[in-house]
Amino acid sequence: MIKNKSIYILGIESSCDDTSAAIICNGKILSNVVANQEIHAQYGGVVPELASRAHQQNIVPVIQQAIQQANIDKKDLNAIAFTRGPGLMGSLLVGTSFAKSLSLGLNIPLIAVNHMQGHILAHFIEDENQHKPPFPFLCLTISGGHTQIVKISDYFTMEVLGETLDDAVGEAYDKSAKILGLPYPGGPLVDKYAKLGNPKAFKFTKPKVDGLNFSFSGLKTAILYFIQKKVKENTNFIEENLNDICASIQYTIVEILFDKIKLAVKQSEINHVAIAGGVSANSEIRRVLKSYEAKFGWTTYIPKFEYTTDNAGMIAIAGYLMYLDNNFSNDTITATARLKVNEK
Ligand code: KG4
Ligand code: ZN
Repeated sequence: MIKNKSIYILGIESSCDDTSAAIICNGKILSNVVANQEIHAQYGGVVPELASRAHQQNIVPVIQQAIQQANIDKKDLNAIAFTRGPGLMGSLLVGTSFAKSLSLGLNIPLIAVNHMQGHILAHFIEDENQHKPPFPFLCLTISGGHTQIVKISDYFTMEVLGETLDDAVGEAYDKSAKILGLPYPGGPLVDKYAKLGNPKAFKFTKPKVDGLNFSFSGLKTAILYFIQKKVKENTNFIEENLNDICASIQYTIVEILFDKIKLAVKQSEINHVAIAGGVSANSEIRRVLKSYEAKFGWTTYIPKFEYTTDNAGMIAIAGYLMYLDNNFSNDTITATARLKVNEK
């Protein structure tokens, strides 16, 4: 019955500092509007209270724009999917409350989405230029809050094989950028300057962490001490060497990530490998993963840029898959700052 019908779902994402709304129809994205919050750049990181206030200002126009761009009426919607967690509580509450009220007002079901599942399930958005991973596959989920290797056996059967013991890889990028005097979020800037530099110019030691877990806090401290020492010797050290410093930091981060994902493929004997999350926008991570197809015979899955950093398209696809699974929430559902990838 569902197969012959057009199912329209509104996705709402407000877990951190981007307010986003998307409309999906039978797995195909019709609109995906993201309002970035510029306010945080001057503070060098996300200020939670400012983030929730900005979400309150953005949420209505962003949703209106998503509905308009999709060329539908809100009465056409079959369900509302929203990010329940993990994320910043104040930010999550804005999306959660709005989704609940709209579902009550329109009398349509509510679907609570796990943000981390959303990042991974973005690989199932219908798109003629993207191929979908078969089950089981591995996903390296890398964002501002997470660094995980996840085994996905079915849409909602996910197992964490390894994860960071301290900082997330996105934090490593952003904190390194901050040390270099670059604005938040620094990840894309480190990526940009790294392209022009020599990755072997400076050497940073890789952490020794057993198994499939990661650690990034030692690298951040090593970079801090290295820069402090060099700036003492030459106050222009950063400006004179920015490209080489960024390339060397990026080289180390990429090595750390790929050492572990190679081990995960070896241990699990699964060579279908995806990346997801904001850091999967990184050009070097995308290039290296792709090169492993020829080098190791892996099949790799690299998301489109618009589905890497936080966006509601990924929440909408997760919502659509949950809709097909009759996986609805009632209006007593609450936002939660902490949620594991295998939790609902
Ligand atoms: O998934 P996301 O939008 O938000 C979270 O759920 O955390 O990820 C944001 C993170 C930030 O740390 C940002 O610096 C990083 O993704 N990022 C990048 C790049 N684009 C975004 N890091 C490295 N290279 C990039 N090109
Ligand atoms: Zn995210």
